[in-house]
Amino acid sequence: MLKLAGRMGRAKPSAIMAVAEKAKKLKAAGRDIISFSIGVPNFLPGEHVYQAARDALSKDSGQYGSNRGADALLDAFLKHMQDLGLTGYTRANLSTGIGAKHVLYNLAEVLLDEGDTIAFPTPYWTSYVDIAEIVNARILLLPCPAGQDYKLTPAQLDAALATKPKVFLFNNPSNPTGMVYTKEEVIALAEVLVKHPQTWIITDDIYNRMLFDGLEYFNFVQARPELRERTVFVDSLSKTYGMPGWRVGFMAGPEAIAQAVTTLNSNHITNIPEVTTAAAIAALSGPQDVTTAKNLEFQGKRDQVMAALAAIPGVVCPRPQGAFYVFPDISVAFGKSHDGVAINNDIDFCNALLESKGVACVPGSAFGEPRALRISYTCPTAQLAPGMQRIQEFFAELK
Ligand SMILES: Cc1ncc(COP(=O)(O)O)c(C=O)c1O
Repeated sequence: MLKLAGRMGRAKPSAIMAVAEKAKKLKAAGRDIISFSIGVPNFLPGEHVYQAARDALSKDSGQYGSNRGADALLDAFLKHMQDLGLTGYTRANLSTGIGAKHVLYNLAEVLLDEGDTIAFPTPYWTSYVDIAEIVNARILLLPCPAGQDYKLTPAQLDAALATKPKVFLFNNPSNPTGMVYTKEEVIALAEVLVKHPQTWIITDDIYNRMLFDGLEYFNFVQARPELRERTVFVDSLSKTYGMPGWRVGFMAGPEAIAQAVTTLNSNHITNIPEVTTAAAIAALSGPQDVTTAKNLEFQGKRDQVMAALAAIPGVVCPRPQGAFYVFPDISVAFGKSHDGVAINNDIDFCNALLESKGVACVPGSAFGEPRALRISYTCPTAQLAPGMQRIQEFFAELK
């Protein structure tokens, strides 16, 4: 019997997509479904992005491009980083990929040998575990439950780094919780990182332009510039510019890492296509009004979701200040039943909610936190209130 490579035994299809698929099937069968499941921004980029793509199409050379990314794209990204307060980088510090997911996959290949440890806070973005498992790394999960606002404490980080993991992976603002570390919290964690020089740091900050309540983006490197020599910043156009399908991701970090990611690119993707590159440059360099308007809209939707959740007895939900997710602890429902269906965990809960009320959410266990579920609130505004009302009804009907 011919066998696939051993690593494929560890590779799993995305748990988030499984919920989306089920919701899609119910919808196709005529059910009225409101989807709070998949993490897509649900808006289109500005017209200038399409225009740049059309212009590029008419001039498209059809040739291979740079493995690192076109110079003009790297320059546009450098400018974007400067606007975020990340200065002093050059093209040699950068590389690109087919989305941040691809960049993170490349970084796992670049930094982790089989058996090396990667540490990250839980709840985590699902692909961190999936990618680490494919490269056969050990995973050190750092539990950050709702009771601590889903945030890592300096003491937890200190204890974790004392075990000398090869990589510490940090995500801010967070998917799935939407939580954002304050400047003071980032500084406190950075102080700990400085004490443990044997660990690489990856900061997956792809929601860096999606901050609410006047918060400003802040990174470990701004807190402690000496961390720059072992910190890799990851970014993407997917969420900020409503371009998830265009597949453009970036990294900025030590030159050796940028070169290694570029070498991997040369061995699989070769380059980001020319038309996509032109659209990406336009998104980064052109007017930012769509992003700004959407951010305001998401802040209002956050408030709406939080108000609806606050009216449900027993549901605990730290207040998110970024991205477009809310991650309530719904464990108060466990041990009860809905319409005769037993709810013993987050998966039972999400299945029953979808079947009975037609609302799709992702079970928290997909993110390592089985007491919660994720609500992604980028749906059309008109669907938000009815969707939240159905969740309230579902809770009220629990026995
Ligand atoms: C935290 C986080 N990192 C990375 C990604 C991947 O983004 P991209 O579309 O650029 O691959 C996502 C997408 O959901 C995400 O939420």
